[in-house]
Amino acid sequence: MNNKAIGVFDSGLGGLTAVKELMKVLPNENIVYFGDTGRVPYGDKSRQTILKYALQDIEFLKSLNVKMILAACGTVSSIIEESNVNIDIPFTGVVAPTAATAASATRNNKIGIIGTTATIKSGAYKRELLKINSELQIFEQDCPLFVPLVENGFIEKDNKATLIIAEKYLTGLRNKKVDTLILGCTHYPIISEIISRVIGSDVKLIDSGKEAAMFAANALSFSECLTERKTNGSCTFYVSDTVNSFSKSAGLFLQQNVSQKVKMIDIAKYSTNLEIINDCG
Ligand code: DGL
Repeated sequence: MNNKAIGVFDSGLGGLTAVKELMKVLPNENIVYFGDTGRVPYGDKSRQTILKYALQDIEFLKSLNVKMILAACGTVSSIIEESNVNIDIPFTGVVAPTAATAASATRNNKIGIIGTTATIKSGAYKRELLKINSELQIFEQDCPLFVPLVENGFIEKDNKATLIIAEKYLTGLRNKKVDTLILGCTHYPIISEIISRVIGSDVKLIDSGKEAAMFAANALSFSECLTERKTNGSCTFYVSDTVNSFSKSAGLFLQQNVSQKVKMIDIAKYSTNLEIINDCG
């Protein structure tokens, strides 16, 4: 048993898709969330910059003495996976659990992956899927405008701007007749209704935030590290820029008032002294 909090991070709002699921499946756990709102988006940055940001985010959460860190960010998960970083605390990303669910969900073996440019360039989801089933046909598309649209609140299901952009990104995948689509960036489930409308309601959407949260919950349970608390846990949010717009959007998404629970920190203070054994990128 372990009563410490679970640490979750993302570049901004996207990781809240994992937090929402954690709150549902592990209501007694304390959660600390960091959204790097001062530096979002990560997905158009270089590998080196993403890695540097991720290591600072991890260092910050470690300073809060968490029992596990969930990188609820497809971009960080894709980059860190091939960078051989030695993180001396239980750690999970979103790629492996999401790929496993997608591989078992497909019926026609045609899977689409959408994510940030850095995620798609890394090939991480594709590699993971082909490890599970080498006969899968995989079609990928980066969707760089989705994160700014979500961060700026263009999320209601009939939002015209987001619908036009979604048409542009998703028409190719729709023509390939994928029956399963990985929402490889944790921001995307926030606009899943729009994505579903464009790709077709018969295509199964796999939510990377949710899958990672379920994986983390199982890992904590398996290693007997769940809390002993019998009452509801709390969630504290940290951001690297002003709290107001995050509080508003997070409150809407989580359907609770979080304004008293959001604090701003200076992420640049956290050094990246974690060991990178072999960053060959
Ligand atoms: N939620 C992040 C991801 O899953 C967003 C990336 C970004 O900041 O561009 O990839």
